[in-house]
Amino acid sequence: MKTMLVTGGAGFIGGNFVYHVLKEYPDRRIVCVDSLTYAGNLSTLDTALKNERFVFIHKDIRDRDAMREVFAEYRPEVVVNFAAESHVDRSIVDPGLFLSTNIIGTQVLMDCCREFGAERFHQVSTDEVYGDLPLDRPDMFFTEDLPLKASSPYSASKASADLLVLAYHRTYGLPVTISRCSNNYGPYQFPEKLIPLMFINALEDKPLPVYGKGENVRDWLYVEDHCRAICMILDRGRSGEVYNVGGHNEMRNIDIVRMICDYLGKPYSLIEFVKDRKGHDLRYAIDPAKIKRELGWTPETKFADGIVKTLDWYLANRKWWEDIVSGEYKEYYKKMYEVNK
Ligand code: NAD
Ligand code: TYD
Repeated sequence: MKTMLVTGGAGFIGGNFVYHVLKEYPDRRIVCVDSLTYAGNLSTLDTALKNERFVFIHKDIRDRDAMREVFAEYRPEVVVNFAAESHVDRSIVDPGLFLSTNIIGTQVLMDCCREFGAERFHQVSTDEVYGDLPLDRPDMFFTEDLPLKASSPYSASKASADLLVLAYHRTYGLPVTISRCSNNYGPYQFPEKLIPLMFINALEDKPLPVYGKGENVRDWLYVEDHCRAICMILDRGRSGEVYNVGGHNEMRNIDIVRMICDYLGKPYSLIEFVKDRKGHDLRYAIDPAKIKRELGWTPETKFADGIVKTLDWYLANRKWWEDIVSGEYKEYYKKMYEVNK
């Protein structure tokens, strides 16, 4: 039985990845390391915790001694690093934490991979490392060979980590891969992100705070398709390579918010245009030709189906998000959105 170390498994994509691997790879054991920051929810892993192929370890990836102990005990063949500070707005308020978790945390994990001889270190990165594209150039896309040109402290920290991962490959011969994915949506996404935030506010007839004019474009991918892409990269991806993951599904923020209103039968008058995000990236758009050509990956979930599945999930799992929005999130929301008005 192969052991896979998954960091950040109590978060949105990591949690979905844990369930994907437990279901699709019966010969894998998962050791999940997560420090349970505000974004980590152990309740996301409730079902996994009952599985004998799953072990949860409450530790911080920046803690070198703790990580060495985990590697010494479980000897993971494969490491998939989801653990990160992931929200752009928070990075604008407090960049330091992003540098420490996203860069130093990655370094600690790679040092352990070297010391204990892991077969593969996979870094879960983002399309945001490429910066943004103009709104009036629909012919332009992010390809893997573009220079990195991050806009926010979040994306700069992810870009730094990517450079470090490639440097460890070149300098030490560490077997690595990187995936750079577009915006994910699906179950278990923390309510601070666009889709769950607008859904929960609309459900409760609260204002829907759209930044700027709502014309910024994101390329949305259903989280399960992302998880499948990472598994294909682990199975057959070439060491030292970067793979873009995206579904040619570009949407303007305002159109997503209106779609959520339509789903819930709520009026568009709930929409409130608020002060724009500082340095707000205009458009993200992935060219997924490489992963399609080399590994045969294509997205399977159409946005029209994925968004209904996602919103249905939030309706059916109220307790999961109500527990979150009734806690410290309340303070965050007040602080972030009062000053944004
Ligand atoms: P998330 O914020 O929902 O989850 C992050 C998880 O990491 C949480 O469980 C948190 O507790 C854990 N964590 C944070 N700091 C840690 C530390 N120091 N030690 C151990 N655990 C720690 O994030 P997400 O949306 O699931 O994103 C996962 C990864 O995917 C991130 O690396 C992010 O950059 C990348 N990514 C996200 C998206 C997206 O749309 N959400 C798109 C592309 C790439
Ligand atoms: P987000 O979910 O934070 O992801 P990212 O910034 O990584 O793309 O935001 C998606 C888009 O939605 C982004 O253009 C910012 C916008 N947005 C709003 O208009 N209002 C909000 O309250 C939030 C959270 C995001």
